[in-house]
Amino acid sequence: MIVPGSASQSLSAALAAETGLPLAGASYERFPDGEGLVTVEGDLEGERTVVVAATPTDAAHVELLQLQDAVREAGADEVVTVLPYMGYARQDASFEAGQPISARAVARAISTAADRVLVVNPHKRWVCDFFDVPAEPVDAAPRLAEPLPADLDDPLFLAPDENALSLAETVRDAYGAGETDYFEKHRLSGTEVEIAPSDAAAAGRDVVAVDDIVATGSTMSEAIAVLRDRDAARVFVACVHPVLAGSARTKLANAGVAGIYGTDTLERAESAVTAAPTIAERL
Ligand code: R5P
Repeated sequence: MIVPGSASQSLSAALAAETGLPLAGASYERFPDGEGLVTVEGDLEGERTVVVAATPTDAAHVELLQLQDAVREAGADEVVTVLPYMGYARQDASFEAGQPISARAVARAISTAADRVLVVNPHKRWVCDFFDVPAEPVDAAPRLAEPLPADLDDPLFLAPDENALSLAETVRDAYGAGETDYFEKHRLSGTEVEIAPSDAAAAGRDVVAVDDIVATGSTMSEAIAVLRDRDAARVFVACVHPVLAGSARTKLANAGVAGIYGTDTLERAESAVTAAPTIAERL
């Protein structure tokens, strides 16, 4: 039985279709004081349940804990939790004295009622070690090749920093043609980045800029500006998690992006492809 979180409706339905597992009904209510309450429908006694819930907000984190507890309460035999997008994963260290390791805190909480956890493209793979139950990363990046235009001209798959190079290589391999390269990124603040260009030859070529997350859009809009200076032809953005917070879309539009392609780990207008087949292989 697939049990959907409120932020993972389309992905849960796609996963049910992909696996043939039944999709549980669930409702999500809010009391006047702001507290949430979930209700999971169906007979879960002795069932293996797969709770699919992205946690982009604090409320989604609490909702996931409630969903896990609800299915346990209903007698589920095994609980596999799929985190299509794991919120707080980028807070993977105590950056200053007095601060928590937030990714560890949420991982421990999730572990209290899960038997196994799958995390789709965590920012760092080792975040999975923070769980107290077996937890594995799932790489949905190959799915990003599917929505890309079939007619990319001499494509360059470009990572905005070295950490994202393997993602760019994965998308290039899945696309079946093109070169890869990376820029060097220096983060100045939560919303400002500086891109130090490599000698990547972009003139006249279609470029696909690949990253795990597009959040404020600062990284990608800086990268696109450099590419436009180098007379790149079309510049597309491909990311696993289209967070697209605040003015990200207008920043990217002003930078001259030709298209934004994300997966449905977060449900956005830009979620051009489902991660369901990749997750299904790992269930
Ligand atoms: C961080 O290292 C990630 O890989 C992304 O590059 C980052 O989250 C993008 O953030 P933003 O869109 O705010 O620049």
